[in-house]
Amino acid sequence: MLSEKIQIGLIKQLNRESESSQLYLSMASWVEKKGFEGICEFLYDHSHEERMHMLKLIRYINKRGGVVVLDNIFIRKITYKSLKELFQTLFKHEKEISNEINLLLELSLQEKDYFTYNFLQWYVEEQIEEETLSKMILDKIELIGEDKGGLYLFDKDIKNFHKK
Ligand code: FEO
Repeated sequence: MLSEKIQIGLIKQLNRESESSQLYLSMASWVEKKGFEGICEFLYDHSHEERMHMLKLIRYINKRGGVVVLDNIFIRKITYKSLKELFQTLFKHEKEISNEINLLLELSLQEKDYFTYNFLQWYVEEQIEEETLSKMILDKIELIGEDKGGLYLFDKDIKNFHKK
């Protein structure tokens, strides 16, 4: 069984993953309207991945005898001044998620819940990859600036960017 504190923490996290999925979905939609096909596919795919992160948490909570609570998620910001602002938002969001995973790890040690500690290792690896990838993309976007030719090539290249 999960302790009450762990259950609350895991539910909060699964709702954050759901929020991530919605955030990337809204970004993908915004980018699609701007005509960046590669970036839009990347963001739609990422939205799907975040949904998988949410599902993994739901199934773990259920397996451990907990009760899942789903929040209503509202993404208010759906426009961006530029791709740079969008990827800054994305990178900041991933850093916040990493911090939250770290706090959850600390909590699982305090509660002596080593099953949850072990389960969360997958998220630790995932966050290292996601932070690295989003920082790499942001660096490239900053380097390109407003150069239309550079953005065109970046939009073609992004399909080759993978998590390591
Ligand atoms: Fe599931 Fe991008 O954090």
